[in-house]
Amino acid sequence: MRKLVAGNWKMYGLASSLAEIEALKGLTGEAAYDIVVCPPFTLIEKAAERAKDSTVAIGAQDCHPQISGAHTGDVSAEMLVDAGARFVILGHSERRVFHHETDAVVATKVTAAHTAGLTAIICVGETRSERGDGKAIEVVGGQLRASVPAGASSSNMVIAYEPVWSIGTGLVPTIEQIEEIHSSIRQMLEERLGEDGRNVRILYGGSVKASNAADIFGAANVDGALVGGASLKATEFAGIISAAA
Ligand code: PGA
Repeated sequence: MRKLVAGNWKMYGLASSLAEIEALKGLTGEAAYDIVVCPPFTLIEKAAERAKDSTVAIGAQDCHPQISGAHTGDVSAEMLVDAGARFVILGHSERRVFHHETDAVVATKVTAAHTAGLTAIICVGETRSERGDGKAIEVVGGQLRASVPAGASSSNMVIAYEPVWSIGTGLVPTIEQIEEIHSSIRQMLEERLGEDGRNVRILYGGSVKASNAADIFGAANVDGALVGGASLKATEFAGIISAAA
């Protein structure tokens, strides 16, 4: 399966950061894998202009469930497409925690993204205490089942397994732990989508760096990565991407 490496800039990045996209284009060239950069809303249009005719696609980090309406401060999936985005991250744990997004809300947003023509990167992952209680597979399974709406397929959905305790902490699960969750996600996708479940890309996310990327990409059912901190600088992000080759 063609790997996908996505960078999540979170609430970082000013116009000057667009130089990182230029640099990334130069560092990755004719990539044999898919590269996505998800800058903040304010940079999407300019980032898409810079990434034009390159292997780098642009994504967003959230969208509203509705196409338009009286929702002060929100951005719809259609607006993201209009600005040049092709992907959108949905259900990131920072949205689930700080914005109280439930699985049902995430599923509605995914449908909105699909209606607008975006590919949704749907995030799932357990907390430290849930893992400690031996509930990681159960929690991830519950999130997955309830966050993936009807109409989702390998052509409009990517799953990102991001253990909450690994995000921004430098703590990474063992390869065995990653494989265990990824294979259970694969199984659930196959139960849900039949044969097409085999083609859905399952990314790992949480403290991915150039130094651990090759091991992570080598794990069974790992089809790429969702990268936060290490995606902000093109040289470091390119180091991770090259490990996907
Ligand atoms: P991190 O973040 O790579 O900085 O751990 C990953 C994410 O939140 O998507």
